[in-house]
Amino acid sequence: MPNAEHALKIEIDRHHALPIYLQICERFKTAIAAGHLKPGDRVPALRGLATQLNTARGTVEMAYDILVDEGYLQMRGAAGTFVSSSLPESVMRGGARKGRERAAVSRPKGASAVEVGHDARPLRPGLPALDAFPRKLWSRLVAHRARAVELASLTYPDPAGYGPLRERIATYLGLSRGVECAPERVFVTNGYRSSLELVLRSLAKPDDSAWFEEPGYFLARNFLVEAGLKLVPVPVDQDGLDVDAGQALDPHARFAIVTPAHQSPLGVTLSLARRMKLLDWAERAGSWIVEDDYDSEFRYAGRPLPALKSLDANDRVIYCGTFSKVLVPGLRLSYVVAPERAIARFEQLTKSMNAGPPHLLQSAVADFIAQGHFARHLKRMRALYAQRREFFAQALIKAFGARASIEPPSGGMHLVMLFNAGVNGPVDDLAIAARAQELGLAVSGLSSWHIGARTKRSLRGMVLGFANVADAAEAARLARMLRRAYDG
Ligand SMILES: Cc1ncc(COP(=O)(O)O)c(C=O)c1O
Repeated sequence: MPNAEHALKIEIDRHHALPIYLQICERFKTAIAAGHLKPGDRVPALRGLATQLNTARGTVEMAYDILVDEGYLQMRGAAGTFVSSSLPESVMRGGARKGRERAAVSRPKGASAVEVGHDARPLRPGLPALDAFPRKLWSRLVAHRARAVELASLTYPDPAGYGPLRERIATYLGLSRGVECAPERVFVTNGYRSSLELVLRSLAKPDDSAWFEEPGYFLARNFLVEAGLKLVPVPVDQDGLDVDAGQALDPHARFAIVTPAHQSPLGVTLSLARRMKLLDWAERAGSWIVEDDYDSEFRYAGRPLPALKSLDANDRVIYCGTFSKVLVPGLRLSYVVAPERAIARFEQLTKSMNAGPPHLLQSAVADFIAQGHFARHLKRMRALYAQRREFFAQALIKAFGARASIEPPSGGMHLVMLFNAGVNGPVDDLAIAARAQELGLAVSGLSSWHIGARTKRSLRGMVLGFANVADAAEAARLARMLRRAYDG
């Protein structure tokens, strides 16, 4: 039996913007297209390749899952994993020449290359309305703080966060999210992933596993896999995370990472019954729930729902918030509410990491809140996003007709357009997303928000950020571009 384990040399670049698992996918596709790996060749075992690349086994597993799903590899149980005997048509058609040409391209087909770095192309999910950010007011507040040149701003910032900002956040959480907490429990961080890092370093043990929503927020997923956490994909339905499924799959998981208010990406809300069940599981299993409350302020029917944390009688929920949606992501400001029993550990860790975002930005945001601008900004953005959501949904409905199901979401800053299956079966959303990216749109296929081949990918669609769609004309133009990408 041909064995490629020794023939295949894979190198990865840890500084590349592309996550490692996508780099691995790309290397395999290139090797297959160039004929270095042939149908029927056995590829290295997960553990072997992970050791060779000095990366987590889960990273390689994710890459293999994608390659299996796209038809490049086949898993044959205990016999191992092999290059498919029936390779995808595009590889067969293009042959080795095309493969060599493609070798220079760093973005594999269907890669979720959006939301990485400073990509601000149209429709990027999660990007707030940059045109509506009160820039003049903001620069006045920052300038005021900069002119004051407080001594505190010249030395190292408090690694747990700027005191007055922690107080403002605690008050805001009590009033708006139903989360009662003392400022000492609020730790200011540099974005959601640094919140996750703090949580993991404080509470995770080697070999811990975590429930992760399927589909789920892929940037957090990549980070957690890189950090060595074993992720257990738990399906999401109309009521949010399927807690029963989670308990059946991994009853002793140490964490459940969830987006209860507005599931990322599907947009559903975790029902009250599921919330209670999840809390009950966490208490019985001694596990932690990480609540990612990233865009809950934006609801278009009624008031925002209270956070899951507000129901947490046993202090098992670690609440994570961010200023990336309610203000702008360039601030890199977010926060975690530590469980009472873990405050000392969080404090110790922030000290040893010497964490803490710059004082200047933290103090300007504290002023922004204290002077009432924050509440006004949120109110304005809610009205603006409701309007933009409507423009965009209507434009998509017009452009796609029966080809897709589009429902204006009840909250958030993105919508999911689900493709209806065509006469030839399910639509290839990754290929459509890749074409849309070539047209200059920062969209991603819904399939890339799933962990991989082992879970059913019944949903094919596109995740589209509408917060920056300025008016109806712009909405129509973008919807037509998407339709062009769909038509191929
Ligand atoms: C699901 C989800 N959680 C959290 C965040 C916030 O991330 P950060 O604070 O790093 O900007 C985002 C941003 O896009 C998101 O989509």
